[in-house]
Parts: sequence; structure tokens; C-alpha cells
Amino acid sequence: MKLLHSVLRTACLCAAALAAPVLFADEETNYDEALAGSYTLPDPLACADGTRVAAPEEWFGKRRPELLEQFQTEMYGVMPGVNRERLAFETLRENPVALDGKAAFKEMRVYFDAPNPAPKLDLLICIPNRAEKPVPAFLIPNFQGNHTVCSDPWISISDNTEAIHTRNVNGEERRGYKKDRYPIETIIDRGYAFVTGFYEDIDPDFDDGRQNGVHSLFAAMEQDVPEESRAATITAWAWGLSRALDALETVPEIDSSRVAVAGHSRLGKTALWAGANDPRFALVISNDSGCGGAALTRRNFGETINTITHGFPHWFCPRYKTYIGRTDELPFDQHELIALIAPRPVYVASASEDLWADPTGEFLSARNADPVYRLLGTEGIGGAGDTPPEADTPVGAIIHYHRRTGKHNITEYDWAQYLDFADRYMTN
Ligand code: GCU
Repeated sequence: MKLLHSVLRTACLCAAALAAPVLFADEETNYDEALAGSYTLPDPLACADGTRVAAPEEWFGKRRPELLEQFQTEMYGVMPGVNRERLAFETLRENPVALDGKAAFKEMRVYFDAPNPAPKLDLLICIPNRAEKPVPAFLIPNFQGNHTVCSDPWISISDNTEAIHTRNVNGEERRGYKKDRYPIETIIDRGYAFVTGFYEDIDPDFDDGRQNGVHSLFAAMEQDVPEESRAATITAWAWGLSRALDALETVPEIDSSRVAVAGHSRLGKTALWAGANDPRFALVISNDSGCGGAALTRRNFGETINTITHGFPHWFCPRYKTYIGRTDELPFDQHELIALIAPRPVYVASASEDLWADPTGEFLSARNADPVYRLLGTEGIGGAGDTPPEADTPVGAIIHYHRRTGKHNITEYDWAQYLDFADRYMTN
């Protein structure tokens, strides 16, 4: 049953996400804990030259850059630079009395290649009116256009015609359609700004040989990068989120030193990667990010490198698929992606029925990032033990974790924990 669920989930998403159909038989997927395998995780503090990090300076000066480079060349692709002269921001519209006067809504356009009109990212920025300014913010990309996150008729309908998720459905009928995932009013009431943008504005979510979206700008910057390590789509999305943060730095009502980057599923993978690359993100939230996100790769449970690189070949650079069947040879595992965020607060969340994303593997990743957080003088994952907590029981300290009862989704329960976590770690 579970296997069938995963096959269907993969098949549906693949059919939707790919121009060329990939019918990948997901026969290898394991959901039996007894068969999750035994493996040895790489020590995040062990350097490639055989030495071991003993002090924070060595982490930041030596090990962290080495690890970041390995993730770039072997998995997500090298993070491109920014041509600041071609980056521009424009406030398109403002409504000072949205949500019955509780919030001001702004629509801001990020031009990645100004003065060219495309590629661009349209941000919806919701700022609490009654809070003391500047306010901290949550930046969370959305899956189907800004008009789908809230029913307010003021919000512009996505004009993206390249996107697979909005194609043919980017009209009025989808207004507010995904609002349950984005409790904007609660976030505003808690004194935070809410910022979102449609992820496919940054890079459409299909394999087009790195031509569309911001990929079109990267070629000129990637001449020295081997083809098999060039920026894949998760890197493109993470790059775009950093440009959204550049834009927020120009918004006086927002405290850009207190911006949390969050994401669900493939965008949870993206949030972790954005946080690993851009130390300006003050807090990182991975919601059900699974394989290629928070979940350990060496554990044989749920989605694998094989399934993910067949279903979504554009998400990772070509080097990644060379590790199919030899995960032990990966120079890193995903706990080290979390470690790259240290000492900043990070929240990893799973859902109990989301076995495809391997909740236990997500917990163990958070758990095994702890030595780096401790080295940097934090409480790491606090008193959480070595085994996953009960459902609906958040654990940890500056590394936090919960496994919500239910399905692959981002819910009110998840947001309630993220808001408490932000209150604790992202206040002045
Ligand atoms: C698929 C994919 C996952 C991904 C998810 C999503 O299920 O296999 O890796 O997280 O889609 O983004 O919705």
C-alpha cells in the first residue's frame, strides 16, 4: 500500500513536472525499518586532509568552505555569482489597509537582468501595521502563484506562462486555493512580515537543459565550472531566494537581519540550500524536505538518489547521479547540509505518513548536525536523544525537530511551531 502510494505520488509528480514522460518503476523503495541498512555517517568535523576541526575558526576558515564546495560540485551545482548592475527592484503596487487594516500588502518585482523585463520574480510582501518596525520576516516560496496563497482579490494573478503548475489554471479560480498552507493573518498577528514569490518565476520546474528562468543568466558566469557541476534547478531557486533577500534589504519596514527562509518539500530542500549558501538568512525551516533535503542519503528508506534523479533530473547537477548505488562514496551526507547552517537556528519538520521523505532520516540528520552546533557554542539539538521523538512532540534547542501526525503538507500545526521557534531565536 505504502509502496503503491509512493509509486503513484512519484508517477503523478513526474508526469506533471516533465516535458518528456519518465515512467520510472519505483521497485527499490524500502519502507521497512529493518532494511534501512547500516551505514557510517561522515564526521562533519573531519577535514579532507585527515585533520579534525577543534575550534570555530577552523570550522569557518577551513572545513565549512570545503564542505560547501563538495555539496556544490557533487550535488546541487556551483552557486553562481550576481551581476549587481543588472539586478533591480520595483514596487509595483501597495495596499496600506489589507486584512481589515491589520497589514500593508506590497507587490515588488525583482528584475534579475534589468533593464530586460525577464526573468523576474514577483514578491508579495505582507507587513503587520500594528507591530513595532522594522519587523522580522518569513520568506517562503509558493508552488502556484502569489494569488493562490490568500483570497484577497487585491493580489495580482500570476502571469507566468512557462510554469507547469499554473499552466491553464492561473486565473481567478485558483485565488486563495492554497491559503491553508500560508496562515498570513496569524503570522501578521504575531508581528512578522510574510513574504512569498512563485518558485517557477525563478526557474520553471522542468528539465529544459538549463535554458529558461535564471539559468539563462548563469552561462556567462559558469565558463570555469565543469559542465557536470553547473548550477542545477535547486541552486537556481536558492539563488533566487537570495535575490529576494536583496530586495527585502531595500524595504524599510523589514529587518533584513531577521529573515527566516522556509520551504515545503522540494522548496524545503531549497530553503536548506539557500540557508547553507547565504549566511544572511537568520533562520531556516525545512518542512517535509525529504531526499536531497534533510533526509540522510545513506539510509535506505523512502526516496533514493536513483528515484529522485530519474524523476527530477534538473534538480541536481549531473555529478549527483553518479552516486546511484554507491551512497557510501558520497563525500558528505545531509546532516552536513544542516551543519552548514550552524550556528543559525534551523527547524526540520516531518509528517508521520510521509514515509517517502523518511521522517526518521530527517530526524537523524538534524541530530547528527549537533557536533558542529556544539563546537560553535550553542545547545545544538538540546536534550533530544538518538531516536526520533513521538509524533507531535517537538524536540531540540537551536536545532529543532518535530514529526507532525498526518500527510505530506505544511499545516497550521507546523506554523505554530515555527512561530514559537522564531519568537525564541529570531527576536532582537
Ligand atoms: C516528489 C519528490 C520529492 C519532493 C516532492 C515535492 O514527491 O519525489 O523529492 O520533495 O515531490 O516537492 O512535492
